[in-house]
Formats: sequence, C-alpha cells, structure tokens
Amino acid sequence: MGEAYVHGYHPRENERLQDQAGTLVDLLHSDTSYPAGSVVLEAGCGVGAQTVTLAQRSPGARFTSIDISPDSVAEARRKADAAELTNVQFQQADIFALPFAPESFDHVFVCFVLEHLSRPVEALRTLSRLLRPGGTMTVIEGDHGSTYFHPDSSAAQKAIQCQVELQRLAGGNALIGRQVYPLMVEAGMEAVSVSPRMVYVDSSRPDLVDGFTRKTFTAMIEGVRESAIEAGITDPSSFDAGVRDLYRTAETDGVFWLTALF
Ligand SMILES: C[S@@+](CC[C@H](N)C(=O)[O-])C[C@H]1O[C@@H](n2cnc3c(N)ncnc32)[C@H](O)[C@@H]1O
Repeated sequence: MGEAYVHGYHPRENERLQDQAGTLVDLLHSDTSYPAGSVVLEAGCGVGAQTVTLAQRSPGARFTSIDISPDSVAEARRKADAAELTNVQFQQADIFALPFAPESFDHVFVCFVLEHLSRPVEALRTLSRLLRPGGTMTVIEGDHGSTYFHPDSSAAQKAIQCQVELQRLAGGNALIGRQVYPLMVEAGMEAVSVSPRMVYVDSSRPDLVDGFTRKTFTAMIEGVRESAIEAGITDPSSFDAGVRDLYRTAETDGVFWLTALF
C-alpha cells in the first residue's frame, strides 16, 4: 500500500483484529443487517474479522470484500472458507482505484480503515460513487483520544499518544472518530447520522476485560513498541511502564473506558 500501515500485517495483529471484532460484535453489528438480494462492498476487510459476522448476519446478501494487502485477503478467504460462507467473494484492490462500475452496490461497509488514510474524504467520495441511488454506507471508526481508565496513569496516556503520533506520521489519524460526521458531509453524503457507542469495562465483565482491555486495546498499543522507540518518540522504559499501567486497568479494581466508537 502507498501509505505505511501503522499496525503492520504480522500474525499477532491478525489475532488482535479477530479479538477486536469478536469482542465488539454486538456493539458494532447489532444494527448492521442487509436485505436479501442486496449487494454489499466491504472496503478494507483486512483478515476478514468483520466479514464473517457481516455475511452470517445477512445470509441473503452478497458481499464483495476487498483489501489492499494480498496476504490479508488470502487470510480473510481462509476464514470465510472455514466458516463455510458462500455469499462472499474476496479481491485484492485499493480503495482509491477500485475495479467496479459506478452504482454497482446497494451498501458499502468500512470499518477501522479511514483512520489509516491520508485522504479520507477522497476515499468516501470514491466509495459513494459506487452506491446505487438510495444506497447506504456504514462507516465505523474509533477515537483513541476518548480513553479513560482507573487507575489513571500519565505513562499509559503517553504510550497511547505514541500510537496517535505514529499514525499521524504515517498519514493517518487515530482521533478520526470525532470527525466522522464532518468528513461524510464534506464527501457529499446526505442524511448522515452518527451513532456513538462506548466500550465500558470493569471486572464484572470478564469477557471484555480479556477480549477488549487486554487483547484489543492494550495489545494494539503494545504492538507499536518497536516503531515508537525507533521513531524516537519514546524510550523502552517509559513505554513499558505505560503498557504495564494499561494491563493494570484489567485487574479486579480496574476500569477501562473507550468512550467513542462511531
Ligand atoms: C485496522 S484494519 C481493519 C480491517 C477490518 N475492517 C476490521 O475491522 O477488522 C485496516 C485495513 O485497511 C486496509 N487498507 C488500508 N488502506 C487501504 C486502501 N487504500 N485500500 C484498501 N484497503 C486498505 C489495510 O490493509 C488493513 O487491512
């Protein structure tokens, strides 16, 4: 891909994307279902972490799932085969150069992708041209600036900031959640409606403690350790202290709160 992808494509990141999708399935997909016969484009499907849920929840819809990374597409295809999905086809493609005719889809689904692009409005315009009249687009993005936790820790906030900074240096925006509405309006979309969701985790929700606090969010921050040190925006002991404090929020008296997913 043209722009550096901050999370990389290694197996641990694949697992993290699966954990993220698995843990957030109700939060993200409770209102995503497509009518039988509709044709859906999933742009930036990655390793298929959302694809399986989407296709299983709308068995009568036909999905085309694309990603710029051929390895991710191959992995996504394996996952769909393992789930015995018959309503998804995969293709390696760049959102900015898609091989589809205008107005060929009823719906477009984009999840955690715009945050990695330096031209999100252009991406949205390109995708909206593929929609038939009356078609809809679902965009899901997070906002790393919306995290609160107990015990509070400036070291942990600084570690999160490393990810924000690296993503910015790579042309993306880890704080894009707060801009979803204005970006969609700027891209010319009509009837834009944002439905903010929050992930609140305490020890009465052990699945979220493990699946979200540890394996999704903290694992994501931990995953940028080497790049952040190499880029000179942190040093090993400060970064490790921040990650330790993030794991600390997963203990019995800890709380982790990501207030904004859109
Ligand atoms: C964080 S992953 C999200 C994957 C998936 N949507 C999910 O929620 O699990 C972002 C994906 O966007 C893909 N991507 C980034 N730029 C792209 C582009 N220009 N065209 C297509 N895919 C792109 C990356 O390869 C990566 O797989």
